[in-house]
Amino acid sequence: MKISVFGLGYVGVVSAACLAADGHDVIGVDPNATKVDLIDRGIAPIVEEDIEALIASSVAAGRLSASMSVADAIHATELSLICVGTPSQLNGNLDLSYVRRVCEQIGEALRASSTFHVVVIRSTMLPGSMRTVVIPTLCEASGKTAGVDFGVCINPEFLREGTAIFDYHHPPKTVIGESDSRAGDVLASLYAKMAAPLIRTTVEAAEMIKYVDNSWHALKVAFANEIGNISKAVGIDGHEVMSIFCQDTKLNLSPYYLKPGFAFGGSCLPKDLRALTYHARGLDLDLPLLNSILPSNGRQVDRAIKMVTSRKQRRVGILGFAFKAGTDDLRESPMVDLIEHLIGKGFELRLYDKHVNLAALTGANKDYILNHIPHISRLMVDSVEKVMDFAETIVVGNKADEFRDVVGRLRDDQVVIDLARISGRTSDRQYQGICW
Ligand SMILES: NC(=O)c1ccc[n+]([C@@H]2O[C@H](COP(=O)([O-])OP(=O)(O)OC[C@H]3O[C@@H](n4cnc5c(N)ncnc54)[C@H](O)[C@@H]3O)[C@@H](O)[C@H]2O)c1
Repeated sequence: MKISVFGLGYVGVVSAACLAADGHDVIGVDPNATKVDLIDRGIAPIVEEDIEALIASSVAAGRLSASMSVADAIHATELSLICVGTPSQLNGNLDLSYVRRVCEQIGEALRASSTFHVVVIRSTMLPGSMRTVVIPTLCEASGKTAGVDFGVCINPEFLREGTAIFDYHHPPKTVIGESDSRAGDVLASLYAKMAAPLIRTTVEAAEMIKYVDNSWHALKVAFANEIGNISKAVGIDGHEVMSIFCQDTKLNLSPYYLKPGFAFGGSCLPKDLRALTYHARGLDLDLPLLNSILPSNGRQVDRAIKMVTSRKQRRVGILGFAFKAGTDDLRESPMVDLIEHLIGKGFELRLYDKHVNLAALTGANKDYILNHIPHISRLMVDSVEKVMDFAETIVVGNKADEFRDVVGRLRDDQVVIDLARISGRTSDRQYQGICW
């Protein structure tokens, strides 16, 4: 393929060098004359393992060159990768001025182009940047229509400095956010030989994933450091602990616990976090990350409460209020917090959970309900239907199978607030997911 790479910084140089080494014809474009001159002389403008040799051989083979002319590059190529910087402004906000400028320049060059050129953003940009900045700027400057006269994709970059060339050839995944499938097909063909999952998705999800990945990586580092700090304070080797932690690929390093939804609860997570953070305070340790987990969890309960109370419908039904489906354990169930709050605000409630049935309960859980939350036991009914007949707002608290078809059975005046993702749909007039 004939490819332009805009921005000869870290990402642009690595992409240009690797694409040229793969046999593509690549033109690097940058307003910085020194970088352009260095590439043209076969010299790498960045420090990175193996980059010097790749650039020297590709330039010598005539597959890599550099230019300051946007128009020349656009007219000589069929696909452009935009790798310009997206730095922070002083207030932390994202500075899209380089992206805006390069889109104006590319748009002007596309005016005179009669072929279907695909513009691909590799720079990291917040969700919404493609629809509010990139696509309108390209359309306005070119006088053409995105998806018809030219294609637009976002293809976030996941390489790490220091191992960038290895990462380019062994990415954890390739993500293509496409505004039209024709552009997505052209870009996907570039990655056809990569042995990594190729994920084609919406432009917005592709924009978001880069921030989610980097936030997660940052969170992992901070978590490991705080665990290391506590471990050291109690005389344990933090590396030994985290090495054991990492061997659990069922619950620890896995998709488990990584689905957005309602707050956690139950008899272990809140209690054990409280004990660990209390103990750390006694050791004079400042652990802002671990200390923030329970408050964050509480905010998720507040969010659910607001979703119900803001509707101002007094009759509320709760389907599923044990902390997860298939258990009768109500200890520290965040659903019980929600229910108690609604009772306190004067809402009328009916509650149903197949596993929390007073007649069938024995032992500790029956004792807990009768002695700790008797006001809740009085609101319990024995079927989904009784809740549906009564309520205007129906809150689904866990993923029991019998709740799956609730959305399809709603009267026109009823709304479901889903805290458990019983349905794959996104929010609409009668269905509200807590974070989808
Ligand atoms: N550095 C990384 O490891 C890394 C990894 C993944 C993603 N990213 C993202 O990729 C983007 C680029 O990062 P970087 O570290 O390579 O940036 P950088 O600042 O090193 O390089 C940006 C280059 O863009 C050039 N440029 C500015 N305006 C231009 C224009 N109109 N036309 C052509 N070139 C122009 C600059 O002169 C500069 O050479 C950023 O959004 C960054 O967040 C970086």
